[in-house]
Amino acid sequence: MDHTIYVLFRVDPPASIQALEGTFVISKQPGPPLYVKIEKMSSSSQASLRFLLSIFMSVVMVTFASNFYNDVDLTWGDHRANIRNGGQILTLSLDHESGSGFQSKNEYLFGRFDMQMKLVPGDSAGTVTTLYLSSQGGAHDEIDFEFLGNLSGQPYILSTNIYSQGKGDREQQFYLWFDPTKNFHTYSAIWNRRKIIFLVDNIPIRVFSNLESIGVPFPKSQPMRVYSTIWNGDSWATRGGLVKIDWSKAPFTATYRNYIANACVWISGKPCRNKSINAAENVFAEDKAILGPKGRERLRWVQKNYMIYNYCTDLKRFPKGLPPECKR
Ligand SMILES: *[C@@H]1O[C@H](CO)[C@@H](O)[C@H](O)[C@H]1NC(C)=O
Ligand SMILES: *[C@@H]1O[C@H](CO)[C@@H](O)[C@H](O)[C@H]1NC(C)=O
Repeated sequence: MDHTIYVLFRVDPPASIQALEGTFVISKQPGPPLYVKIEKMSSSSQASLRFLLSIFMSVVMVTFASNFYNDVDLTWGDHRANIRNGGQILTLSLDHESGSGFQSKNEYLFGRFDMQMKLVPGDSAGTVTTLYLSSQGGAHDEIDFEFLGNLSGQPYILSTNIYSQGKGDREQQFYLWFDPTKNFHTYSAIWNRRKIIFLVDNIPIRVFSNLESIGVPFPKSQPMRVYSTIWNGDSWATRGGLVKIDWSKAPFTATYRNYIANACVWISGKPCRNKSINAAENVFAEDKAILGPKGRERLRWVQKNYMIYNYCTDLKRFPKGLPPECKR
């Protein structure tokens, strides 16, 4: 007996999909997520449905896996920065001569940025691996993840910071609830007109709200690029600079994959329009979901159990009074 089975896929980033004799042709296109429907499958073809699904999913993965060749430029460190596996993997290394780095080809104004990273394993003391968004020039804006390495078996510190119009000094630091050197984990920033949210494996760890209303500058008009570097920070990074890099363990290598910028691309100085605005609006919608009751609970969980430094409680550092955003 034949009946109709509807299968809905959420394809994100959006794509157009055509079924051609059992194969799916997929191409990237701007716009909202697309839902695909497969119809008229006989009830006896559960197995072939599963088969189709598996083909479909693998096509989706292949098609949407980011490609570092298209998305980034290797900017520092010569052979220490490498793109591998046809663009699926990127590695950055540090040795006694130099660190290395890359930057996104695009500049963006608002969006959601995801990167999967596997940090330097083993003895990484003194190394600093960064992932950040930054604008250019003096009064620059910046959204920072910095991973401070450690001796084997000792915890990394994730240090976050935000610069707005050239002013930083807004560190919040965390231990992670997993070993970031064993597997890939996703580090993300959501940036829109109202908020900046830092996420680890889609769990919000930090929220910086737009408080221009009380005189706190907020990054909202300078486009930013995504950057990543690995470098020698042994004058300060591990236990405040007490533990130096053991160069006999070099090179120190961090690995990247699946860079996704669901973001508003800044083209030749023009404000982002049309599809780009849609991207920004998606992000607005997204921050509500991420900071819903469950998200807020997770945020509190991270801040209660894993936050080890918060500039907002550092009275010694701000003897004349905490920054205004801390009083909210
Ligand atoms: C390294 O390990 C030490 C000892 O457990 C810890 O105090 C420190 O916070 C860890 N992280 C860094 C980056 O120093
Ligand atoms: C959006 O794109 C259309 C067609 O490309 C153009 O006519 C329109 O002016 C654009 N809107 C904005 C706000 O830029």
